[in-house]
Amino acid sequence: MFLRSMKNPIGIFDSGLGGLTGYRALRKLLPGRTLLYFGDTARVPYGTRSREVIRRYSTQDANFLLSHGVCAILVACGTASSNALDLLEQTFSVPFVGVVAPAAEQAARVAENGNGRVLVLGTSATVATGAYERAIHAIDPKIQVRSAACPLFVPLVENGHTQKGDVAATAIAEEYLLPHADFRPDAVLLGCTHYPLLSEVLSAVLPGPVLISAGEASAKAMASLAAASLPPSDGSASDAFYTSDDPALFRREAARFLGAPPDAPVFHVDIEKY
Ligand code: DGL
Repeated sequence: MFLRSMKNPIGIFDSGLGGLTGYRALRKLLPGRTLLYFGDTARVPYGTRSREVIRRYSTQDANFLLSHGVCAILVACGTASSNALDLLEQTFSVPFVGVVAPAAEQAARVAENGNGRVLVLGTSATVATGAYERAIHAIDPKIQVRSAACPLFVPLVENGHTQKGDVAATAIAEEYLLPHADFRPDAVLLGCTHYPLLSEVLSAVLPGPVLISAGEASAKAMASLAAASLPPSDGSASDAFYTSDDPALFRREAARFLGAPPDAPVFHVDIEKY
């Protein structure tokens, strides 16, 4: 095993690359803390799978990160957060931060300063749980929430169809969003961490609402937790990325999420062992 000098790293996982939107935000917020990212790229997507499978995969992902000594875990995946966060919190003793509560809080704040309406976009498995809706209503029951499952967004992002004007992305975004145009949401909560890459397409199809990135919101929540109660880091970051598929592929694809190729090593993990 590759041995690294690091103290109290934070683990982050996602079904694949989408969680890098959370990693990127957290990297800026905690410059002196090592971040270990696991992307389950061999088993992505989670969003079309059963709750039982999502819970098993999420437990393995957390187990792997804990085997590398992380002191807390950011579940940077809407699907895993909405289907498995309760199980992870019961199973393991480190603190977990998911994307649902932090993103719901941001969306509720925007809605309270507007007309009180939020449109939640997520994978089929996320929307089926109603987790975002419950979290928003726990903050303010008067907020009107609509949710839309957008199963084709993850394949679009994974295949690079993210530019404004992309014909396929625009047609699919119109299909998902235009039925909600009359709802006039103040905020569109991007409840899947892949979706921020489609921001320009979404804003072109439905101009006006504030777009909320679940990954960024959760990174802020993790940074607050680190400041308030995590054990100290050694003040220097020595990040690593782990993937259940090919590291070279991960490196190339991650560049689209990070804005540049990852400047940390990428290792392969046999996740079924965990
Ligand atoms: N990034 C995952 C999420 O936030 C979605 C991808 C998937 O379906 O696995 O829900």
